[in-house]
Amino acid sequence: MAKIEERVGNFEGVFWFKKKICTKNLIPGKKVYDEFLYNSKYGELRTWDPRRSKPAAAIHKGLHHFPLKKDMKILYLGIASGTTSSHFSDIIGKKGLIYGIEISDRVLREILTVAKKRENIVPLLADGRKPETYPWIEKVDLVYADIAVKDQSEVLIRNCKKFLKPDGFAMIAIKSRSIDVTKKPGEVYKQEKKKLTEYFHITDFVELNPYEKDHGFIVLKRKS
Ligand SMILES: C[S@@+](CC[C@H](N)C(=O)[O-])C[C@H]1O[C@@H](n2cnc3c(N)ncnc32)[C@H](O)[C@@H]1O
Repeated sequence: MAKIEERVGNFEGVFWFKKKICTKNLIPGKKVYDEFLYNSKYGELRTWDPRRSKPAAAIHKGLHHFPLKKDMKILYLGIASGTTSSHFSDIIGKKGLIYGIEISDRVLREILTVAKKRENIVPLLADGRKPETYPWIEKVDLVYADIAVKDQSEVLIRNCKKFLKPDGFAMIAIKSRSIDVTKKPGEVYKQEKKKLTEYFHITDFVELNPYEKDHGFIVLKRKS
C-alpha cells in the first residue's frame, strides 16, 4: 500500500496519496466527477483535482491555513455543479451541512443529483448578492465565495454580516479579470484585500497559477 500521510499543517480530512491530495469519500464507491478512488487504511479516498477545484489548487500552492473541520456548517456562494463542495462534504462529514447558493437553474439541476446522495449538501436557487432572500439559513462556521463577479468581496461581506458566527472563517477565490481586466492581478488582489480587512483578518493568501490563471485565494477570520 502506498504511503499516506495527513497534510502538513494538519488540515482535517485532507490526505496526500501518491503526490495527489485526497478526501475520504463520504459515499464509498460513488464518484462525483472524473476523480480517482483508492482504497486505503483510512477508508476510500477520492483525489481532489487542483485543476478543477480552487481550494485544491490553493493547497497545492502551499496554503498554510485551511479552516474546514468535521461537523462544520458552511454557506457556499456559487456552488455550481458540486465539484468542490463534494470534497467539502467529505471533510465536514454527515453531521456537517453545506447551504449551496447557485444563481443558474441549469447548473443547479446538476448539483441536485450530487445532493441526492450527499445529504449534507442543501442546494438553493438564489442570488448570492441578495442574502435577504434566504433569511432562514442558520448561522454558519464558514462562508466560501466563488462567484467570479465584480463585487464578489462586497457580496461575501454582506453574507458574512448576516450568517457568519462571531468566531467564523471565510474563504474567497478572487478572479482578477472579473473585477478589472485593465489592472494587473497583483493590484486587484491588493485592492480586494483592502476591502476585506474592513471586516476580516487575512490569515492566508496564495496565487493559483498555473492551476487557475489570474486567480488568488484568500482565507479570512472574522474580526471580533
Ligand atoms: C466558478 S463557478 C463555481 C465553481 C464551484 N465553486 C466549484 O469549484 O465546484 C461560479 C458559479 O457561481 C455562480 N454565480 C455567479 N453569480 C452568482 C450569484 N450572484 N449568486 C449565486 N451564484 C452565482 C455561477 O452560475 C457559477 O455556477
